[in-house]
Amino acid sequence: MRIIKPWAAALLLTVSSAGVVAADGEAILKAQCNSCHNLEGPAPATLHELWQRQAPDLFYAGNKYQAAWLERWLQQPTTIRPAGMFYVDHIKAGSAGDQIDASTMRPHSALSAADAKAVAAALMERKARSDLVVAGSYVPGTISRSSGEMMFDKFKGCLACHEIEPGYGGLSGPEVYTVAQRLQADYLVSFLSRPQAWDPKIFMPDKHLSDGDVQKFVHYLRLLSVEARQ
Ligand code: HEC
Ligand code: HEC
Repeated sequence: MRIIKPWAAALLLTVSSAGVVAADGEAILKAQCNSCHNLEGPAPATLHELWQRQAPDLFYAGNKYQAAWLERWLQQPTTIRPAGMFYVDHIKAGSAGDQIDASTMRPHSALSAADAKAVAAALMERKARSDLVVAGSYVPGTISRSSGEMMFDKFKGCLACHEIEPGYGGLSGPEVYTVAQRLQADYLVSFLSRPQAWDPKIFMPDKHLSDGDVQKFVHYLRLLSVEARQ
């Protein structure tokens, strides 16, 4: 068992009626995560606020993330945004083009298994913006790797900002070869249809994708995630 200062124990643990001490996810969020993550909303409303943002917004986590992924990742965090939250802070110009300045990147802190479980559960309770998601809006289907890549790269220019495999693609957005493991399919449909409805100032362009293209992109993202796991 972890050694915890008495005041911290009082803050972060709750005793159930059976007398079992369990981690209090909500208390951990407020004590250890609030300094970087926005837990209550709203999303940045100005460019200045966007640039100041230290970490992804978590106030609609329950509508965005897959619970099992959250619990795993919180115990063993990996890099998702190759150039951090705001790429300008972590990119330096090099002879071979822009490069990530690794010295400015800090690893994410990890939680114990019990704390991760409690925190993931508390995050999944955060259901802001349910008005933007329609349950079942993603209809499972398939696309070939080459058609998906053609859309992602040539037709819609997504590759400029996102990596489709480690080391291949743009650096300013999150890697997308793990996105289908991380995010709910119905969230992806909603976000790809109208990114600024979720995050008004985000620099991901609204390409006014047709509903059919949105579905194809989600098929493609799911295909990439399966390949990434192999
Ligand atoms: C020092 C600032 C900081 C603190 C404190 C912090 N985080 Fe983070 N967190 C980040 C950054 C930066 C990222 C983006 C990492 C990346 O993209 O590689 C992140 C990513 C995440 C993600 C993935 C979200 C996504 O959309 O990619 C989750 C979930 C998360 N943090 C939860 C937590 C929890 C829970 C705590 C508290 C136990 C916490 N964080 C504390 C900075 C922080
Ligand atoms: C100009 C850069 C840019 C372009 C072009 C772009 N995106 Fe993004 N994308 C972003 C940024 C920035 C985010 C949100 C970053 C964050 O959560 O920190 C994002 C988020 C995403 C997400 C959610 C990722 C996550 O982990 O939360 C997906 C999926 C995605 N984009 C797919 C696409 C697709 C498909 C296209 C092409 C139609 C595209 N993007 C074009 C910059 C871009």
